[in-house]
Amino acid sequence: MYSPGLAPSGQLTSRTVAQCTSEEVATAMVHCFQGYLVPMRLTPERYETRCRAENLDPFASKIYYSKEVPAAVAMITRRGWTSRLAAMAVAPDFRRRGIGKNVMKVALEEAVLRKDRTMLLEVFEQNPAAVSLYTGLGFRPLRKLFGYDFDPHGSKRAADREPLQEIDPAIIARHISAEGDQDLPWMLMPETLAAATRPFQGLHLNETAFALVADPNPKIEKVVIRALLVRKAHRRQRWGSRILEALEAHFADRPLTVQALVPENMAPDFFHRAGRRRQALNQLEMKIEL
Ligand SMILES: CC(C)(COP(=O)(O)OP(=O)(O)OC[C@H]1O[C@@H](n2cnc3c(N)ncnc32)[C@H](O)[C@@H]1OP(=O)(O)O)[C@@H](O)C(=O)NCCC(=O)NCCS
Repeated sequence: MYSPGLAPSGQLTSRTVAQCTSEEVATAMVHCFQGYLVPMRLTPERYETRCRAENLDPFASKIYYSKEVPAAVAMITRRGWTSRLAAMAVAPDFRRRGIGKNVMKVALEEAVLRKDRTMLLEVFEQNPAAVSLYTGLGFRPLRKLFGYDFDPHGSKRAADREPLQEIDPAIIARHISAEGDQDLPWMLMPETLAAATRPFQGLHLNETAFALVADPNPKIEKVVIRALLVRKAHRRQRWGSRILEALEAHFADRPLTVQALVPENMAPDFFHRAGRRRQALNQLEMKIEL
């Protein structure tokens, strides 16, 4: 067991996520992410859903404890030769003691030992502590990832409404694999999207424009659009705008949102249309060669 530093009451011990229940992992994550820019609402079920989609490696992902109290978490997802830091946090009582740096050094050393070539991560640019930590370890920014909010009173007239049909999300992932951008961030890769099961919902217009909606449950305040795709042969013919308008009409009771996962160079004008505002928080995708 690696001890990444001295906690006030003694050394930290670590457990791999494989040694913990999903309840223990979710509890440790919520505890360590206190005070984060966006509230960490993780349940065991949500944690498992994320794990499955993102290819979390339960032996590379760790929880650090001080006398059985979670002090830090580091979650690692892996595909091929690439590792990704999917989540990292140090509990408030343990911050600014070098623990974050040591936890990251362990994650990097282990990635080198298993002969990975690259480690990726995404961090909110407005989180100076984390950006400084990662930059200090040698991570370099690749690109910015933006999110968008939709005006809840966008195009809502029922008469304008084009009928959206439901489709298996796995089919949308296959189309994105064949016709989507080849260089998508981890959360938008077809490998991630292919794991979408209910409550995710796949919708399409005329089998030409597709949308993957994260959770259309009416109890949830916003409808998150996780992916959009227009078949290649039909681009620049307003299909993208039409499916957005159809989504706004379909979910007329709630605002739509796109998480801060969209690369800065990916159709910025498309999202900048009236009523679709870039969110104040954006992520940086960062990379280190190992
Ligand atoms: C970001 C976080 C993980 C840092 O952990 P930590 O254990 O406090 O960090 P360390 O003590 O190891 O500090 C290492 C480096 O990080 C940076 N850093 C850490 N806290 C910082 C702060 N409050 N302000 C500015 N830089 C900070 C510094 O570069 C520091 O190096 P230095 O001490 O030589 O200046 C911690 O603040 C945290 O858990 N925050 C909430 C969750 C979060 O933001 N996670 C990252 C998601 S991507």
